[in-house]
Amino acid sequence: MEQLTGKVAVVTGAASGIGLALARAFASEGMRLVLADVEEDALGTAVDDLAATGVEAIGVQTDVSLAESVEALAARTRERFGAAHVVCNNAGVATPGDPWVGPVSLWEWMFAVNVWGVVHGIRTFLPMLLAQGEGHFVNTASAAGLRARPHLAPYIASKYAVVGLSESLFLDLAESAPGVGVSVVCPTWVRTRIVDGARNWLPRFGAAPERSEDEQALHELASAALADGADPANIASEVVDAVHTGRFWVIPDRSVLDEVEQRAEGARGGRNPSRPSL
Ligand SMILES: NC(=O)c1ccc[n+]([C@@H]2O[C@H](COP(=O)([O-])OP(=O)(O)OC[C@H]3O[C@@H](n4cnc5c(N)ncnc54)[C@H](O)[C@@H]3O)[C@@H](O)[C@H]2O)c1
Repeated sequence: MEQLTGKVAVVTGAASGIGLALARAFASEGMRLVLADVEEDALGTAVDDLAATGVEAIGVQTDVSLAESVEALAARTRERFGAAHVVCNNAGVATPGDPWVGPVSLWEWMFAVNVWGVVHGIRTFLPMLLAQGEGHFVNTASAAGLRARPHLAPYIASKYAVVGLSESLFLDLAESAPGVGVSVVCPTWVRTRIVDGARNWLPRFGAAPERSEDEQALHELASAALADGADPANIASEVVDAVHTGRFWVIPDRSVLDEVEQRAEGARGGRNPSRPSL
């Protein structure tokens, strides 16, 4: 989409981190904004901050894991702005927990938000974008969707799913609706609150899993890596460029591609996965 000025961007997980940076970046392009997040107070602050700079923005409290909540988001978007053009399915959660002997609710929650949240976002907004013949989906996956890490199976599997469904969506739309683009965002570490993802645990999945000592150590390692991570604003500006140019892959840390190549070479050579650092 070459022209973004005056158009409407919907961003989920917009109250923090990459989502908030996406909202700000699209606002700088002159877009009108719909910010969606499950965290009501943080969402209110994000909207107020944008509005104070003269941006036309609304906040809609949304739980992306529920189809009806995302449908209400689309209805509110249509009511307020009459359209949506760029839809960022960005909300996501992560927390350490034992994937194999811990509670299965860890998998259920992570898939509900990270995978179903993206599916609901696409299925709900696609008819609007198709009717316009114009639009762009931005799905936030992760480098974790391109190569695995130990201890993080639910997160890794959820992000492989986002990469896979995004590629498939791209292929479907390239044929049937060339005016509707797709990008998938695969960053490594970014300075956000993702490591405290458990703050958004959804009670319908039961009690939030407790962290073991090992998991606490992993949490601390991840916190340190995040503190050294990329600025979310840099990820957002790559996304804006991808929307402008119709680019599918957004992989800001190019070292990920070396790992992807090694993985393919390993598979070709019959070598088993080897253990990388975190
Ligand atoms: N930070 C990183 O290092 C990193 C790297 C790769 C990918 N990602 C991905 O980036 C995306 C954004 O995460 P972030 O790093 O900005 O973390 P963050 O925790 O700062 O932001 C995530 C936002 O999603 C919201 N959210 C959580 N559950 C929700 C739900 N059920 N419905 C609606 N909103 C919900 C949170 O309230 C929060 O505002 C996620 O999909 C994450 O997996 C992050």
